[in-house]
Amino acid sequence: MKAPLSKHNSKTRKWILVAGARPNFMKIAPLIRAVRAYNEINAVNIDLFLVHTGQHYDVNMSDTFFKDLEIPGPNVHLDVGSGNHGEQTGKVLIQFEKVLLREKPELIIVVGDVNSTLACALAAVKLLIPVAHVEAGLRSFDRSMPEEINRIVTDAISDYLFTPSPDGDENLLKEGIPSEKIFMVGDIMVDSLLFNLEKAKNTDVRERLGLGRKSIADYCLLTLHRPSNVDNRDKFLRIIYALTEISKRIPILFPAHPRTRKQIEAFGFQHYFINLTNSKSQITNNGIYLSNPFGYLDFLNLMAHAAFVLTDSGGIQEETTVLDIPCITLRDTTERPITLTEGTNVLVKDDPEKIVREVEKILGGQVRKGRCPDIWDGHTAERIAKILAELPSTVIA
Ligand code: UD1
Repeated sequence: MKAPLSKHNSKTRKWILVAGARPNFMKIAPLIRAVRAYNEINAVNIDLFLVHTGQHYDVNMSDTFFKDLEIPGPNVHLDVGSGNHGEQTGKVLIQFEKVLLREKPELIIVVGDVNSTLACALAAVKLLIPVAHVEAGLRSFDRSMPEEINRIVTDAISDYLFTPSPDGDENLLKEGIPSEKIFMVGDIMVDSLLFNLEKAKNTDVRERLGLGRKSIADYCLLTLHRPSNVDNRDKFLRIIYALTEISKRIPILFPAHPRTRKQIEAFGFQHYFINLTNSKSQITNNGIYLSNPFGYLDFLNLMAHAAFVLTDSGGIQEETTVLDIPCITLRDTTERPITLTEGTNVLVKDDPEKIVREVEKILGGQVRKGRCPDIWDGHTAERIAKILAELPSTVIA
């Protein structure tokens, strides 16, 4: 294993933890708690230095998550913002290298598969700083997804690969990654979900939206933001046709990602939706209700009480499996196959008839029963903190 860039005194060890985009925040919060707990129990002093790359910057894509998940403010904010893939990745690479040279960490931890994950791993590995990748080994086998490239490259250059499920280990081994680098620790997002579920169930989001506190789910929750679904006019329109059919049976609540909202406006699709952005508006009838993105707790509440979820997100496929809520995924492939084999997830591509057929099944009571993988037990971050803290190459004499 590589030697750390710097020698630390026996008292303080510095790890850099990176987050950049919305799907990262629920993955770093449990790690922060776990490292703090490890420090206390073992009377050591691992200093977790938090870097926010600023890939997501809107209040409701970033700040709200820090508040809901009680994440401390970052030590450094790189403020890179949006851009084409090369531009965004390049900006993070340049800025993060400066942080590494200044802070000289013992190792860095990156999570997930966004552009910031790849850029930070690349900056570190070139400076011979060990990289730990949390949520390693996931593969959709679709290289047209930018995230797939980020996953493959990040895993290839990381030193410690923490996988959520056995398929992750299999994929990495097939790519020639030595087994000593691979640790199956479970799904870190589930740590956040289980830790926050009770708190989330007590938010008043459903009351605010007019969904009441009925025991019977009276709405479907939708998220859609993949370039493959929303950047092509015809494809997006096909999905909207299916949604319009579904919304005759059950109201659809659609918190739209900024990229999706931009596309709706660019394609002139506004008339298909009822706008919920006014804080006083509520869901009264059937229809597709477009809202701003929700914070972590409100979204968890809405997922936990939905009749079913329609999505093209990665993490939501796992969260619905844990919550035992049916999930219909509008994609051709998934990098999370365990949600299909063991969970509540089904893939329907963008075929309107297939989407509607799956919804009919659910509304007709044919709900697919899933089971949560055993290792998704809410203790993934503790396992990671212990493994990293006790690695022979990082323990300072
Ligand atoms: C990114 C991740 C994706 C993840 C998604 C979740 C990559 C390659 N993709 O995609 O894996 O599922 O986040 O949210 O890293 N925008 C805003 N405000 C923001 C953030 C983005 O308006 O706070 C707009 C920007 O104008 C940008 C577009 O949304 O053009 C896309 O943002 P970007 O960060 O490039 O990728 P996402 O599509 O969000």
